[in-house]
Amino acid sequence: MTPPVRLLFVCLGNICRSPMAEGALRARLQQAGLAHAVRHDSVGTGHWHVGEPPDHRAIACAARHGVEIADLRARQLCAGDFDEFDVLLCADRDNLSDVRAIAPAGAAGKCQLLSRYAGQGDIEIPDPYSGGTRDFDVVWAMVDRMAQAIVSRLGA
Ligand code: 4NP
Repeated sequence: MTPPVRLLFVCLGNICRSPMAEGALRARLQQAGLAHAVRHDSVGTGHWHVGEPPDHRAIACAARHGVEIADLRARQLCAGDFDEFDVLLCADRDNLSDVRAIAPAGAAGKCQLLSRYAGQGDIEIPDPYSGGTRDFDVVWAMVDRMAQAIVSRLGA
């Protein structure tokens, strides 16, 4: 059996965009019967929210779309992640440059924008932390579209 693809979602705080992206992917994989095909996690480049669940607005936004993400817990990117995961999927260009800056030799190629991995060009997912409900809904629409694209490719 093919080993699962190991995908790590990365944003700044690991309480908004990356857990939303992970939750969207998890839900789309389950719907497609492909949960076994991917091992996934999410992290932040920052340490501020380690151990916390996603932001309550992210949890509410996902729930409005029928997806549960309250079980996820924030952690910070660590050196071992570059071994443990095949691809590090960054929400925006700042995240990407922060991740590449600490990547061990030879691992920078594993780091890319989530949008690019999803086949949607280079699109940054805007940080909704200082925004409102509408900003979270914009993020959800983006990450769910990317999750669907990833799942379609895996299922093809
Ligand atoms: P995220 O959003 O990177 O999408 O999780 C943020 C969450 C928290 C902070 C910044 C961005 N913060 O500065 O605490």
